[in-house]
Amino acid sequence: MSSDSFTFASDTGIAAIGLQLPPLAMDVRELAELRGVDPNKFTLGLGCDEMALCPEGYGVVQLAAGAAKRALSRWDGSLEDIGLVVVGSESALDMSRPLSAFVADELGLEGDVRSYEVKHACYGGTLALRQALEWRLSGAARGKAALVIAADVALYAPADPGEPTQGAGAVAMIIGEPKVARIATESYAYSEPAFDFWRPVGDAFPSVEGALSLDCYKRATERCFQQLVGDRDPADALGELAALCFHVPFPKMVKKGVRQLGESFGWSEEATAAFYDSMVNPTMDWNRKSGNAYTASLWISAAQALAGRKAGERIGAFSYGSGFGSELLVLEAGDAAAEGAWTADVEADLAARRLVDRGAYESLRGSHVAAAE
Ligand code: HMG
Repeated sequence: MSSDSFTFASDTGIAAIGLQLPPLAMDVRELAELRGVDPNKFTLGLGCDEMALCPEGYGVVQLAAGAAKRALSRWDGSLEDIGLVVVGSESALDMSRPLSAFVADELGLEGDVRSYEVKHACYGGTLALRQALEWRLSGAARGKAALVIAADVALYAPADPGEPTQGAGAVAMIIGEPKVARIATESYAYSEPAFDFWRPVGDAFPSVEGALSLDCYKRATERCFQQLVGDRDPADALGELAALCFHVPFPKMVKKGVRQLGESFGWSEEATAAFYDSMVNPTMDWNRKSGNAYTASLWISAAQALAGRKAGERIGAFSYGSGFGSELLVLEAGDAAAEGAWTADVEADLAARRLVDRGAYESLRGSHVAAAE
C-alpha cells in the first residue's frame, strides 16, 4: 500500500475520545461454575476473561453519557460547537425517541443540532462515525463538530451459549480537528442479508444461529480485507498498518477471522499465527475486560490501539454487525495519540469496579430478566 492509497482530510478526524465501563463485572470462570461448564471452554475455547455488567438502574444512557462527558472534558471546544449528536446502539430504550435525545438530556445539549440514533447490530457505531465524517466532508457541518457515541449492554438469556460473551461499555468520539486520528475517506464495506443474530421487537434477548454467525463474520472479514488489498501482495498491503482492530464478540472469533484471512491469502499457519500475535491480539486487552459491548467493541479495541501510537502510524478497524453488514476503515494517528489520555478512563473504571460472584449475578439477572419482560 503506497502512502497515497488513502485520502485523509486535513481538517477532519477524531478530536477526542472518552470511554465508560459499568461498575460491575464477573469472571467467566465464576459463570462456568454456575452453569456447570468446564471453565476452559470459556477462557480457552472462546478466549473470554471478564464480562462487564450493569447494576440495577444503570444502563446504556449512563454508559453513553459518561463516555460523552469524558470525551468533551478533553476537547477544546464547547457544547455550542457541536452540530450533530449520533448514538450507534442496539440497546434502544424506545422505538421512536432516539438514544441521542436521552444523552442530550444528560449533557444539556440542544439547539442547532442534528440528533439521531443508528441501528445495525454491532455495526451501528461505525456507521455513526462514517456519517459524522461524511457530514463534515460534505460541507453540511458548516465548521461544527460531531459527537459520536457507540454504547451497548449485551445480555443473553440465562444459560444461553452466548452468556459468557456478555458485556457492556461505551466509546464517545468527537469528530472535528484530527488531533487523535485522521480517518481515511476510503472504506471497504460488505453486506449480506442473514439471520445470524437478531432480536425481534419486544423480545428481551437476542436469538442466535451460532455457527451461521461465525461463518458470516469470517466471510465478511475476507471480503472487506480483499477489497483493501486489491491486487497487491497482502503482506505488503497489511504491513503498512501498525495494528489491526476487529469487532470482538469474543476474542477467539477474531482469531478465527484472522485464520480465514491467512487462508484466503495463501499464508502458512505459522505466518498467520505470527501476524495475529503481533498485529491483532495486543489490541484486545480492554475487550477482555469489557466483554462484547456490541457497537462499542471495535471502538474499545481501536481506542486501545491508538493510545501511545506515534503520529502518522496507521491502524485498520474492521466492523461487523449481524444481519449482516461490515466495513473496514483505516485510521492514522495524530499528535495527541501518543499521550493516549483516554487510557485513564479504562484504568479508573477497572480500578473502581466490583467483581460479582454467582449469587450476586443470579439476583442481578433476576432483576434484568424482570426489567426486560
Ligand atoms: P457454543 O456452541 O456453546 O460453543 O457457543 P462451542 O461448543 O462451539 O465451543 C466453543 C469453543 O470452545 C470451541 O472452540 C470448542 O472446541 C471449545 P473452536 O472449535 O471453535 O475453536 N471448547 C473447549 N476448549 C477448551 N476446553 C474445553 C472446551 N469445550 C469446548 N473444555 C457460540 C459458541 C459462539 C455459538 C456462542 O458463544 C454464541 O452464541 N455467542 C453469540 C454469537 C456470537 O458471538 N457470534 C460471533 C459472530 S456474530 C457477531 O460478532 C455479532 C454480535 O456481536 C452481535 C451483533 O452484531 O450485534 C454477536
